[in-house]
This record gives sequence, structure tokens and C-alpha cells, in this order.
Amino acid sequence: MKDAFTIRSFAERKKAGRKIVTITAYDATFARLCDEAGVDVVLVGDSLGMVIQGLPNTLAVTLDQMVYHTRLVSRGLSRAFLVMDLPFPSVPVSREQATAAAVRALAEGGAQAVKLEGHTPYVLDLVSHLVSHGIPVMGHVGLVPQSVHQMGGFRIQGKTREAGERVLEGARRLEEAGAFAVVLEAIPHPLAGEITAALGIPTIGIGAGPRCDGQVLVSYDLLGLNEAYCPRFVKKYANLSVTVKKALGDYADEVRGGVFPSFEEGPGRRTDPS
Ligand code: KIV
Repeated sequence: MKDAFTIRSFAERKKAGRKIVTITAYDATFARLCDEAGVDVVLVGDSLGMVIQGLPNTLAVTLDQMVYHTRLVSRGLSRAFLVMDLPFPSVPVSREQATAAAVRALAEGGAQAVKLEGHTPYVLDLVSHLVSHGIPVMGHVGLVPQSVHQMGGFRIQGKTREAGERVLEGARRLEEAGAFAVVLEAIPHPLAGEITAALGIPTIGIGAGPRCDGQVLVSYDLLGLNEAYCPRFVKKYANLSVTVKKALGDYADEVRGGVFPSFEEGPGRRTDPS
């Protein structure tokens, strides 16, 4: 088995100029596939609200749901590093509540780090508090989906000089507060390059161009599972919605036609993978 990807690997990869491959997963089967494909970091993103729960944004995802899905994902991993998003309802109320949520991510979910959106003074204080208590934190700047209403929709951030400087300054402050990496979402490519060069910690881009130290995508997007929605920056590496519908249609036809099951399929039960 290959060496596990640990928190130390983030700094090593930045130093060596080797990209960090990150992808979201929400269950054990997908997590196992990510692990076996050699993905470095698996994120249980609160994007699960949109891709799994069919919600219009991430705001209603609860801590219980995040911890549950993180636990499922942890069962599928043996090498990749596991990060859990702190969901919106657990963050703004108080540092105590957010800390308790992060503790659950590690203790119950099996996560090795949590991800926190934004760089307000409150978030920066929370990051240093968590890090000083042994909870690694990944930051997230640029388009921060939990602030969708404040941004007026899912929009590219950092487009003007001043706005870009605010994003850069936020990323710097997150590094100072002790974050071990930072996600850059939906910002202009030159700005992402500037931030990547300015930081000692790795940047993980999504819709932020090729100059980041790593990339992250939502698994359902890159696999082409969602026909109704696909952000412009996503490259589809498969068109699984077509493959899945074809397989389901074939199954339906064979059941209706009395072709499946044949006598060859025989009796039996599913083998238990554990
Ligand atoms: O929730 C999520 O999946 C994320 C990634 C898209 C970065 O935050």
C-alpha cells in the first residue's frame, strides 16, 4: 500500500511543486474508489446539500448530517487525507459551538481536519483557537458558498484590484492563524497565482485556474452525474448520467421482458464487503 497522505504531506508537496489532488465524496463506496484511484485528499463538502439532498445551496446542511457522511467516507479510505466542512449552522453562533462541531468532526466522523469558510476576524480567531487545540484547519476564500446571500449569488470574487487584495489579505491572515492549506474558489487566475506565490501553505483551487498548488472538484460534477447543473469551470471526465440511465433502462427492459433473472443468475445473497 502507498504511504498515507498526512498533514505533513501538504507542506512537502508545496515545497516539491507536486500538485495536491482533492475531490469530494459523501459515502464509503465513492470514498473507496477515490482512495484506490490515488486521490490525495477527500473532502466531505457541505456541497452534499446540493448534490445529495437536492437543495439550492449549502445553508441547511446540519452538523449531524456532515458527521454521518464523514463517518461513512472514513470507512472507505486507507490512504487519502479526510477533511470535513464545518456546516453553516455550526459556525456563526459562538466559538464554543463551532469548536464542539470541529471536535465531533474528528472524534465521531473520523476527519483529520475541518474546513472553514471566510476570513472575518471571528473566523481567524476560531482558526487559531482550533489549531491551538490540535484541530487542523483548511481555509476557504474567494467564493464562499455559505455567504451566498451576502454575495448576491454564486459569483466570481476578487475581480477588482481592491477586492483581489482583500482575498489575498484574507488568505495571508488564514496562514498566520495556523491554517495548513486554503481553498481558492472562483477567483481570477492571475489573483490565484499571486496568492499561491505569496503563501507558504498550499492553495487548492476550484474555478481558480492552473497556478494553484492543488485542485478540488465536486465528484458528481467531474463524473457528469448531474445533467441539470454543471459550473463552467468543471471538466467532465465522464458522462455517467448517460451510462447510469442506460444501465437502469436495460435492467427495466429485461425485468419487464422476463430476461432477468435467468436461471444462471441463481439464488444467493450479496457478499458482505467487511
Ligand atoms: O462543499 C464543497 O464541496 C466545497 C468544495 C467545492 C471546495 O467546499
